[in-house]
Order: sequence, then structure tokens, then C-alpha cells
Amino acid sequence: MPIKQYLKKTKIWRSIFRHDFQDTPRTRLQRIFGNVFLHLHPVRIAQDALKVTYTWGLGGISFYLFLVLTVTGILLMFYYRPASTLAFQDIKDLTFAVTLGRLLRNMHRWAAHLMVVVVILHMVRVFLTGAYKPPREYNWVVGVLLLVMTLFLSYTGYLLPWDQLALWAVTVGAQMAANSPLVGNEGPFKLPFITTANDARFGLIGGTVIGDATLIRFYVLHCIAVPFVFSIFLCVHLWRVRKDSFSKQTGAKVDVWPHLVSREFLAALLVTVILFVWSLVMEAPLEAEANLNVTPNPSKAPWYFLGLQELLVYFDPWIAGVVLPTLIILGLLAIPYVDVNPKGVGYWARMRWKRVGSVPIWYAEERPFAVSVFMLGILLWFVLIFIGTYCRGPNWEWYWPWEAWSHRRISQLTLHNLPNVWGTVLLAGYGLLGVPFPKALRERLAAQAGPAAPADLSARLHGVLGLLMAVALFVPFLTDPALLEGLGRSRNAPVVSLLYELMRQAGPVLGYPVIASFIVLVGLVIGWVGGQCARFKDRMLDELGLIKYAIVISLFLMMMGVLAKIMLRLAFGIKYLISLPGFNFNI
Ligand code: HEM
Repeated sequence: MPIKQYLKKTKIWRSIFRHDFQDTPRTRLQRIFGNVFLHLHPVRIAQDALKVTYTWGLGGISFYLFLVLTVTGILLMFYYRPASTLAFQDIKDLTFAVTLGRLLRNMHRWAAHLMVVVVILHMVRVFLTGAYKPPREYNWVVGVLLLVMTLFLSYTGYLLPWDQLALWAVTVGAQMAANSPLVGNEGPFKLPFITTANDARFGLIGGTVIGDATLIRFYVLHCIAVPFVFSIFLCVHLWRVRKDSFSKQTGAKVDVWPHLVSREFLAALLVTVILFVWSLVMEAPLEAEANLNVTPNPSKAPWYFLGLQELLVYFDPWIAGVVLPTLIILGLLAIPYVDVNPKGVGYWARMRWKRVGSVPIWYAEERPFAVSVFMLGILLWFVLIFIGTYCRGPNWEWYWPWEAWSHRRISQLTLHNLPNVWGTVLLAGYGLLGVPFPKALRERLAAQAGPAAPADLSARLHGVLGLLMAVALFVPFLTDPALLEGLGRSRNAPVVSLLYELMRQAGPVLGYPVIASFIVLVGLVIGWVGGQCARFKDRMLDELGLIKYAIVISLFLMMMGVLAKIMLRLAFGIKYLISLPGFNFNI
């Protein structure tokens, strides 16, 4: 009897493999059922779900990268000791003395970066194919938590090489924790018992300065605690994909073995090859040993947090580092519960050109609001990351990517705060733009004064709001000649410079009326845009109900507010709208 035949008849073989390896429909099914790793799959799957262009394999690749990170991470742990006197040396040894150590380290590092990118792309795919809609809402929530943990895993790993890059990147993050409202020692509305020795930063870094306690804390978080929790959530995530059924259900059913399993295998092979080549040709960065006395300028956070660091230019640290990230996460979690549009599940959002007036816009036919807002958020995020990575040099000064950095360049930036009263008016006006007309009021008005009355009144109210906002924005410059001159001359606030030149050339007699008409024009534009959106707001209120509407509009106003604040700084040189230094509260 040939040895293979003999082996297959032994008790040991049969105890492991419950099925034959002949390719029959029955054994295909048995392979999926009888294998602990494969049985997360269903035995059959819709043919269209196999199309690479539906998922791009992004969820599977994220999972595979997590496996690569676990394996390379465990191997690194054989050599690495988390103590400030040893860590950097161990990394050097790994790079220069340990056989294949450099490749191992490079693979771990690049796989971590790749995983962050792939998980974000997976989220975008899930969003654009509407796969978060019922019954998959909960799995979207689990996914968001996985994304947060992926970022946290990467961040905690950043410190471990104990070089300058690591130390100062983590310092930026720790500083943000110190600025948390209530529980941060440098944040607003600090609770009375909060000190440097018990605030959020202390909790994160295990002391008042980054040192051995931080290293062991990050090591345990990075190697054990976070991967442990991550694995549990990952099991839930994959199990739910199975239980909720996959979002793509069209096409004939085909066997998962071999159709899906072979594709997964090929994707894993491709990722492995890419990682190998990447790790052979590109070194993971390693700077000089960590030194608390030598601060690099600029100190930059890991790239995926650079968007937040860039926001520090426009907002106080507690807003940029704590409030905005929290709201972003809450906003992502809320998406499946506030999006009540049942359309768009199981296929990519259908995009189409349309003319609004004479402006052609490219928009998603069935989910225009959801898709535009989500993609604008992602775009904004990556633009900020790009600016933080390539356009910021020493002292966080702006440099074009092709410009050489200079540590001697002196900033010419002149900024000022809007007087609190006007800032409050501007902010309140902006908030009021989100308020819709209650349905009952609209109906009463229409019954009393005709069907066009609600729209007319709404347009007029928006006009008043727009005017009020324009006045709040311009008047402080016109009532304070020193401010107009200082900021106007500095040339870093183009709109103020324009006002300044106008007043200089035309003199107050001509200048004021011209500017007044300009203010009215700006007010009318804001009012017109608001008025155009009014009908949309009212419809949204009717469809979503008050609570969901309030959540959606607040998150939307927050996102557009970030953009608006950036614009106000770039065009008007405004640093804060409201500034209460006594409370550490600047906005
Ligand atoms: C480490 C992170 C993650 C891993 C390993 C992972 C893994 C997977 C896998 C393997 C699938 C099956 C289909 C596919 O490949 O697309 C999947 C589907 C899904 N994932 Fe993730 N995922 C992760 C993060 C996320 C995130 C960040 C979100 C959303 C915020 C998310 C939401 C979903 C949803 C809703 C499905 C069902 C998709 C459908 O039925 O079309 N996942 N995930």
C-alpha cells in the first residue's frame, strides 16, 4: 500500500482530517465546516460578493495585516526589553546584529502603517456600499472601535524604540491629554482635585514626564492589553459579518471553498510580497536615543495624528486634541442610527453629474447628503494630514513641500481675537443657521398666509442672520483703526488688507459706504445660501425627527465650523472668536 494511502487510514490522520481531499461538493462543504479557522465563512456565497471591485479585499487584508503584526511582534519581543536604558540598544541590536532582525523590524513597522491605511479604506468602502445600514449597524459600531484600537495600537508602539522620534511624537499626544477638559491639569474647567500627579496625562504616561513608567505602560498596552481587547472585538466583527449576511447578495451561490478561500490566499500572498519588498528597500526610521533635554523642532506626532496636530494651529489644544476627536468618533458611531435612507445597500454609491444653476457638481444620486458629508470629512482629514506632514517646518511655520526649512526664520504672522461680544454673535448666528422651522409652525403659516409664506419668512430670517454675522465679522476691524492698520499692513489676512487699502485710498467718507455695501452683500450671500438650504433642513427634520436631526445638524455644523474657523484665520487673521483666558477657554 503506498505510504499516502496508509497514512490516510491511520487513526491519527482521521482524527485530524474528518474529510477526504477529493474535490466533490460534499468535501468542499466539509472543509469549511470541519476547520476551526475556515468555519467563520459560510459554505456558499453569492458570486457577485467575490468580485474584487466590490470589497477590494480590504477587510480581509486588515485581518491579515493584524496576523502579520502579531507574528512579527512576538518575534520582536524575544529581543526587546522595555527599559529606558536598554530599549534603544535592543532596537539597534535588532537592526545590526540579530539575523534577519532588520527585516523583522521593518516588516512590523510598515505593516502597522499599512494597516492604518487599509482599515480606513475598508471603512470608506463599507460606507460607500451602504453596508452599515440595517441589519449591520452594530457591526459598523464594532468596526469603529476596531479603527480606534488600530490607531491606539500604532500609537503605543511608536514609543517603544525609545528614540527621539518616538519620545517627541508621544509627548505631543501626552500634551493633548493634559489639555482635556475637566480631567487635564492644563485643560478648561479643571476639577478642583486635579493636579499634574493625577490628571489624564499622568494616567497615560504613568508619571509627570515620559520615562520608564511610560515605557512599561505603553509596552503592556501595545503587546498585551490592546491586542487582547482587539482580538475579542475582531472575533465579534467577523462573526457578525457571517450572522448579518454579507451585504452583496446578487448572483448565483458558489462554494466558498475554493472560490473565496483561494482569493483570500492570493490576497495574503500579494500583501506578503509587497511587505517583503517594502521592508527590504526601505528602512524603518530610527533617530538618536531619546533625550528629554533635546527637543526636535518641529516635533511631529505619528502621521495619522498629524491632522489633529495641524488643528492645534486653529484651535486650543483641548478642542483640537480632545473635543474634536471625541466628536469625530461619536459621529462615526452614530452614522448607522441617524441615516434612515434605506437606499444604497450592496452596491457602490452611484455618482452622477448634475447642474446646480450653472455649476456642474458630481454627486451621489441616491444618498447625496450622506456621501458628500462623509467624503468631505475624509478629504478634510487627509488634507490636514498632508499639510501637517509636508507643509510644516520649524516652529510649525508654513513651508511649501519644495522649500528648504530654516530655523532662523522669524514669523511675521499677526493675529488677533475678535471681541468676545462680536464673537458670540457670530457663533450664535452660525448655530442658528442649523435651526429648522417646526412642521406645525410651517403648516399654520401656510394656512394663514398662503403656501409660499413659510419659505418667504425663512428666507427673510436667514437674510437677517447673514447680515448679523457679516456685521459681527467686519465691524470690529472698522471700529478699531489700530487693529485695521496692524493686521492690514501685515498682509497675512487678505480680507483685512483689502479693507485697509480701501480705507486708505478712498478715505472714510467714501470707504465706509463702500464697505457697508460689501457687508450687506456678504450678509445677503450667507442669507441666500441659508435660505436655499432651508427647505432641505425642513425636509430633513420631517424625515429624521427632532433628536436625529439635532445630532446630524450639530455634527455637520461642527465639521463645517472647523473649515470656517480655518478660513477666518487665513482670511481675517482671527485667532479666537471667544477668549476667556481665566477659564482656559478659547474658541
Ligand atoms: C482592524 C480592523 C478591521 C478588520 C480586520 C475588519 C475585517 C472585516 C472583514 C474580513 C470583513 C468581511 C468583508 C470584507 O472584506 O469587506 C468585514 C466586513 C465589515 N466591516 Fe470590517 N474590519 C475592520 C474594521 C472595520 C471598520 C473600521 C468598519 C467601519 C467603521 C468596519 C465595518 C464593517 C462592516 C459593516 C462589514 C460588513 C460589510 C458587508 O457586509 O459588506 N470594519 N470587516
